[in-house]
Amino acid sequence: MKNILVIGGTGQIGSELIMKLRSIYGNSNVVCGYIPSAAPTGELLESGPAEIVDITKPTLIDAVVRKYDVDTIYNLAAILSAVAEMKPQLAWAIGVDGLFNTLEVARERGCAVFTPSSIGSFGKSTPHIKTPQDTIQRPDTMYGVTKVSGELLSDYYAKRFGVDTRSVRFPGLISYTTPPGGGTTDYAVDIYYSAVKGEKFKCPLKPGTFMDMMYMPDALRAAVEIMEADPTRLKHRNSFNIASMSFDPEIIYNKLKEHVPGFEMEYDLDPLRQQIADSWPDSLDDTCAREEWDWKPEYDLEAMTKDMLLNLRKKLLVTA
Ligand code: SER
Repeated sequence: MKNILVIGGTGQIGSELIMKLRSIYGNSNVVCGYIPSAAPTGELLESGPAEIVDITKPTLIDAVVRKYDVDTIYNLAAILSAVAEMKPQLAWAIGVDGLFNTLEVARERGCAVFTPSSIGSFGKSTPHIKTPQDTIQRPDTMYGVTKVSGELLSDYYAKRFGVDTRSVRFPGLISYTTPPGGGTTDYAVDIYYSAVKGEKFKCPLKPGTFMDMMYMPDALRAAVEIMEADPTRLKHRNSFNIASMSFDPEIIYNKLKEHVPGFEMEYDLDPLRQQIADSWPDSLDDTCAREEWDWKPEYDLEAMTKDMLLNLRKKLLVTA
């Protein structure tokens, strides 16, 4: 990778991935692609190039790819699961039509493409415990439909046109820089904010709702390592299961209470999010990622909790 375009560059993943990519490949070689309603600010804006890239407009993608001689595209544009249920047409336009636009530009200009898939690509009929790499993918949500379609389309472009597409299925991602919006796993980010602010947390999911989660530094490393992996070792492309921890609301609450005594949580269930979470796996088997490109997570719940609390306390003090 020399010249990289990140589409959806100001979102939860993009805002941190760009800074990591700039530290590896050079500030001027990583373009932050954004939509006008989510323009970059601060370090993200000041440390390197930024361009308007609306994934629904192929000519905009193509113009930026040509201007910066881009060889790798990280396509992070997406509508997360709960919002996608309210705006299914928009979720398809961004998740599938937008990916098609990106793959067409990549085919014509010779770019590699990373497009994350998700635990949301699985559904009720998928084995829920240690979900295998290759298994039933019949999601019940529009988010999941866009993710499975994206996996298939990306593999098609690799086989049919030789486009170097690669991907991972992200668990719920936990981070302190940019909040997620409209996802089912967001509660596991929100709970840290409540703990640090000294507020009682209202949990939208019931006890026993297990889902895979991951701390952002591991997720960013996965996104870089899969694109740098030796292609001759890859038996899969779109998309690899990756995992680091699985917990339910009680487990994360009790972990937080070890660090924030007196922290309180009550249940205030969101039926939509509960229904979505119930259709997703409890835990993924990431053996193929470990074997084919040496994937290995570094953070468990304890290490993540210490780091989240440290950084959120700094952040909330600074912005208070
Ligand atoms: N974090 C996403 C969501 O909850 C899942 O990939 O929608």
